[in-house]
Amino acid sequence: MDGITEKTAIEGSKIEFKKVSAHFGASVTGIDVSKPLSAADHQALSAGLAKYEILVFRDQDITAQNLMDFGGSFSELTVHPFSPNDDNNPELIVFDNKEGNPPFSTDVWHSDETFRLEPPMATMLCAKIVPEIGGDTMFSSMSAGYESLSQKIKDLIEDMVGVHDLGPFKRLFGGTTEGRALLLDYGNRYPLVAHPIVRIHPDSGKKVLFVNPQFTVHIEGLTQRESDHLLDILFHQAVIPEYQYRHHWEPNTLVFWDNRSVQHYAVHDYYPQRRKMDRVTLKGTVPVGPAGPSVFLEDYLAQHDNSEDGVDKFGGHRPLRQFDRENPDL
Ligand SMILES: [Fe+2]
Repeated sequence: MDGITEKTAIEGSKIEFKKVSAHFGASVTGIDVSKPLSAADHQALSAGLAKYEILVFRDQDITAQNLMDFGGSFSELTVHPFSPNDDNNPELIVFDNKEGNPPFSTDVWHSDETFRLEPPMATMLCAKIVPEIGGDTMFSSMSAGYESLSQKIKDLIEDMVGVHDLGPFKRLFGGTTEGRALLLDYGNRYPLVAHPIVRIHPDSGKKVLFVNPQFTVHIEGLTQRESDHLLDILFHQAVIPEYQYRHHWEPNTLVFWDNRSVQHYAVHDYYPQRRKMDRVTLKGTVPVGPAGPSVFLEDYLAQHDNSEDGVDKFGGHRPLRQFDRENPDL
């Protein structure tokens, strides 16, 4: 090992990892993704994903079925509630962006589907047709983002939870009566979730920062103003160049990213050129951190009463009144 390349230590696997960025990310050689994975290769890739957070596989001329098989060997595949799913295989998302079909608002830092109680453990994206210029995907390591916070901020957020909602998908329903009814229905199917802000990665044991500007709307127990400012500090960790890897797509490149430890941003700079990608999403588990496991916000509030300091009782805003100061016991 020279610090850049690493042969897997798993016996029976020829897989080799080569780092693509300072803090995270590796390209993988010694594997044909279209073939069933040996147990040794599977073990090597699982260990590689936990360590490198993103795995890049080049020159993999695979079918959508190959992609589903490859993804499905790591976890059950999930169906996205809002994306354009393939008619025959709802677990397969085909993004075919071209004139008349601009990409959805994925040009914001996020981790996929954190509005779920069990957000996906990982996502796989395979490039089929790429624009001549642009269309890169940016990734940012949230283990590096967490580590570089000051100890005072780490201590502050250790037991905090972030509230996640449907984010930009709420806009899909429009302002009609029918749209509002549908949004209400989705709101019931995907209630607000309280995820630990500091998440412990279940495989690597690393602490990662688990908030993102697409879906995290509030920090529980803080006033709105306090929450906005602290979230702004935490969201900024994703935009620090040293913790990023910018992936330039070539056809038949597959990227397998760990949704538990990275955020990503699809650069929206190619429309109306065509960009066609296949995606599968791998089911995850309930996040766990020092603040405990993720729960629905409703359950969190039932267990944590913040009403005494007025934060919940008064909707996140409550100037201290003179009357209160003079009558502290009322
Ligand atoms: Fe995404």
